[in-house]
Amino acid sequence: MLNRSTEAPSLDVPFDTSAEGLRLRAELEAGLRAPHACISPKFLYDALGSKLFEAICEVPEYYPTRTEAAIFERHGAEIARAVGTGSTLIDLGAGNCAKAARLFPLLHPAQYVPVDISADFLQDAVERLQQRFRHIEMNPLGMDFSGGDWRLPDVVRQEHRLFFYPGSSIGNFSPEDALAFLRRVRAQCGPDGGILIGIDLAKEHAVLDAAYDDALGVTAAFNLNVLRHANLLLGADFDIRAWRHHGFYNEREGRVEMHLEARRSQQVTWRGGSRRFEAGERIHTENSYKYRPAAAVGLLEQAGFAAAGVWTDERGWFAVIHARAIPPGALH
Ligand code: AVJ
Repeated sequence: MLNRSTEAPSLDVPFDTSAEGLRLRAELEAGLRAPHACISPKFLYDALGSKLFEAICEVPEYYPTRTEAAIFERHGAEIARAVGTGSTLIDLGAGNCAKAARLFPLLHPAQYVPVDISADFLQDAVERLQQRFRHIEMNPLGMDFSGGDWRLPDVVRQEHRLFFYPGSSIGNFSPEDALAFLRRVRAQCGPDGGILIGIDLAKEHAVLDAAYDDALGVTAAFNLNVLRHANLLLGADFDIRAWRHHGFYNEREGRVEMHLEARRSQQVTWRGGSRRFEAGERIHTENSYKYRPAAAVGLLEQAGFAAAGVWTDERGWFAVIHARAIPPGALH
């Protein structure tokens, strides 16, 4: 018997009957029933999945997190001069707020608005942060901004909005969805707003393949954990040992893909349904798009931003881009 009291809330709660819980289970089930089975990457991040992702950031092959940190370390002062101080800093997918907090001494934001789907987690992080930075007004928001229709509430100041979207989280969107997402951000920028975004760049295959299929198997565990999460959410009976991790660069699509492959044919059953998987059949669990710098800048421009600064590491593996909102009509 599972001790449910030790499980984290929200996405984990197996018999969550809230509208949000029902919607998530319906989405998960629809993906499992699809001819090409898929599970949305957001299901990777239950309590254990979030810890496994933190561990991924420590493995030698996974370069994005430490490369981005090095860019901020090296160019932080210049980035701060470009974006200016006294901003309304809106941190999309803030998590433990650590990345933004490292920038506070440089950016001196007037207001800090961390946004994350996991509201409880955020609340704890912000309480600690507020003790250290008493003069910054902090307004955490528990909100899912991955969909098409989110809007910031009125507590968020209008002046000098700076959206912070690090970690190449944008890579999980298809280019079309990334554009729609950036347009949504642009619409909430105001005339003096902007975005500071971290984007992983296209590079040598071997580097990408290793980053998403590391020697220790941490990424494999992270990917396989989605089946354990599905077992909890749907009461499914995935035998995790019967699946194998794949993570590789698909050059034609310009993205890394993660899949889980059935090691043998099997029947999987869950509350309300079941499906047969043949040996070798795959469940697609994540895309992680890699951009060329010009394509990243072009995407921002299509969304109504003008790239004002691009910072990369010596190897050109990762880019931090600052872009300003362009007034509507200014392009023509
Ligand atoms: C958090 C979406 C940026 O795509 O690199 C890491 C997630 N997946 N290893 C990424 C991830 C496999 C990560 N993002």
